[in-house]
Amino acid sequence: MTKKALITGITGQDGSYLSGFLLEKGYEVYGMVRRSSVERFERIEHIKDRVHLVQGDLTDQSSLDEAVKEIQPDEVYNLAAQSFVPTSWNQPTLTGEITGLGATRLLEALRKLKPDARFYQASSSEMFGKVREVPQTELTPFHPRSPYGVAKVYAHFITVNYRESYDMFACSGILFNHESPRRGLEFVTRKITHGVARIKLGLANEIRLGNLDAKRDWGYAGDYVEAMWLMLQQDRPDDYVIASGETHSVREFVEAAFSSAGLDWERFVVLDPKFVRPAEVDLLIGDPKKAREKLGWSPKVGFRDLVKMMVEEDIETLKNSISLNSIVNT
Ligand code: NAP
Ligand code: GDD
Repeated sequence: MTKKALITGITGQDGSYLSGFLLEKGYEVYGMVRRSSVERFERIEHIKDRVHLVQGDLTDQSSLDEAVKEIQPDEVYNLAAQSFVPTSWNQPTLTGEITGLGATRLLEALRKLKPDARFYQASSSEMFGKVREVPQTELTPFHPRSPYGVAKVYAHFITVNYRESYDMFACSGILFNHESPRRGLEFVTRKITHGVARIKLGLANEIRLGNLDAKRDWGYAGDYVEAMWLMLQQDRPDDYVIASGETHSVREFVEAAFSSAGLDWERFVVLDPKFVRPAEVDLLIGDPKKAREKLGWSPKVGFRDLVKMMVEEDIETLKNSISLNSIVNT
């Protein structure tokens, strides 16, 4: 029988990759979208006709109850969140409502209306924050450094708690940073690759950045969604670190992005204190051993190829929009 999957956050980076992945596997895919005065479906435009979109919001219990009751999903992937770390200092309670309590609302809907559904929670390496050990594993204690990280710790433990309290099949994937050409423009990788493309095409002459010394374990989003699915196919629910096992500084990312476009980064990067955070996560590097051994998962796209993919796609997309504009204006 065809399996049904419900994805919250389907319009986001990961939601778009996961829905494509599940469609390929033969799933009937349902995606939750929130009401907006303008539709923002660019990331799922290519598959929009093949997925069912349902309106709902992680801050609204009745919409979650209704969706679960109607769809009766076999698998639920909770990817929705206020996911941008700096915004979480400006909007800490909203971040807590969506990113933290949102997980409880969805788990409650499942507990009441579809307790045998398998549940995936999008946990984050931001939970490690001021890291207690290097590399970070499933057993490393958390020390979050932002309201976003704190909200994710809450969502992580409520997932563990529903598994232990109600015997639900609930898993947390502790995913380290993963990027793609579909990444939001505010995150540092895409800000850099989009900026490089604009500079290359003569549309800009600088990129303003904050802390270049921060180190992240960056992978490719297309690889990471497979791990989410694998977690829900196991005999027992569990939590897994999903990471590349390598770390690079923001400066290294900048150098790689500019050099893949044949440019010298030092001529174009301006340091701007506006982008420095009140509390920084200095170093993230995950140990994906458990995922490799138990899920058989390993990443396919490495750091250099990821940077190159993002720069090339940004240049291509911008070039196309320039020629489209020039046709429209003639
Ligand atoms: P993203 O691109 O920012 O997508 C977030 C999604 O959440 C969007 O579809 C957004 O909808 C939706 N959303 C926000 N508030 C909502 C609400 N109140 N109700 C329902 N939907 C809401 O994030 P992502 O990069 O795909 O990440 C997916 C998940 O993984 C997030 O939970 C994130 O925190 C977590 N995570 C990400 C990474 C990473 O490196 N990407 C690493 C670890 C964990 P709109 O389109 O309407 O805004
Ligand atoms: N966004 C941004 N903009 N970050 C900058 C900038 C800038 O101009 N300059 C330097 N950085 C540094 C940040 O200080 C941070 O140390 C690093 O670049 C990465 O920032 P982001 O790309 O915004 O990602 P993040 O690591 O804070 O959070 C992402 O990864 C988490 C997993 O660890 C998000 O996707 C979170 O949702 C996710 O949980």
